[in-house]
Amino acid sequence: MQKIIIGNLKMNLLTIAERDQYLESFKKELKKSKISDLDVVLCPPAVHVENFVKKNKTKNVAIGGQNIFWEDRGSYTGEISAAMLKNLGAQYVIVGHSERRKYFSETNVDANAKIKNALKNGLVPIYCVGETKEDREAGNESQVIAEQIVEGFADISSAKAASIVVAYEPVWAVGSDVIPKSDEIMQVKILLKRIFADAYGITVAEKIKVLYGGSVKAASAKQVCTDAGMDGVLVGRESLIPNEFIKIAEIINANQF
Ligand code: 13P
Repeated sequence: MQKIIIGNLKMNLLTIAERDQYLESFKKELKKSKISDLDVVLCPPAVHVENFVKKNKTKNVAIGGQNIFWEDRGSYTGEISAAMLKNLGAQYVIVGHSERRKYFSETNVDANAKIKNALKNGLVPIYCVGETKEDREAGNESQVIAEQIVEGFADISSAKAASIVVAYEPVWAVGSDVIPKSDEIMQVKILLKRIFADAYGITVAEKIKVLYGGSVKAASAKQVCTDAGMDGVLVGRESLIPNEFIKIAEIINANQF
């Protein structure tokens, strides 16, 4: 299965100059790189999606949003819909990120409604799951993650489920520079695949991409992705540095199996 690297630019790139400089530098680094068989996705803030789509002419680089509401249109002040992102040329959207769960009290049920709306509008959802430090210390990580998956995927057909990308992002590893061991990541992958196989059968379970996210750097890319048997990575801070992001992409690309 083709691997994927996703950059979550979060709430950054505050000026037009900063945005343009980022895109220039990204293009330059990508052109210099030896990436061949890798899907690359950049998720800028919603206000930059249109510009990123227009300036990105590279075939294997897609653009995504960082969040959506679960309705297409209406009186939902401040919200952005999947239909809007799709119409601007986005192909992906992040759903259920731990920062949305933490600062906006988003639940698995909210994520489920958003995933369904993204699928309805032809966007690939990137569904984030992962336990907190307290969950792991209490030995509850499998239970928490299983619940996030079962509730997030509720009432989604197997045909649709196959296209969802799941990102395992332990909350304690996001923004912390602490990363899990390869076998801890692999155990979560096995848990997810088992849940998918029970719900949808082996063929669909094999198609659902499972990524790792949380403090990914070039130095740790092989450990958290290849060694852990993951299908790619979701990168935060390092995606703001095109040179580092492309370095991670090259490592993932070179270590495909
Ligand atoms: P960092 O890579 O900055 O830890 O962020 C990870 C993340 O939240 C990606 O969605």
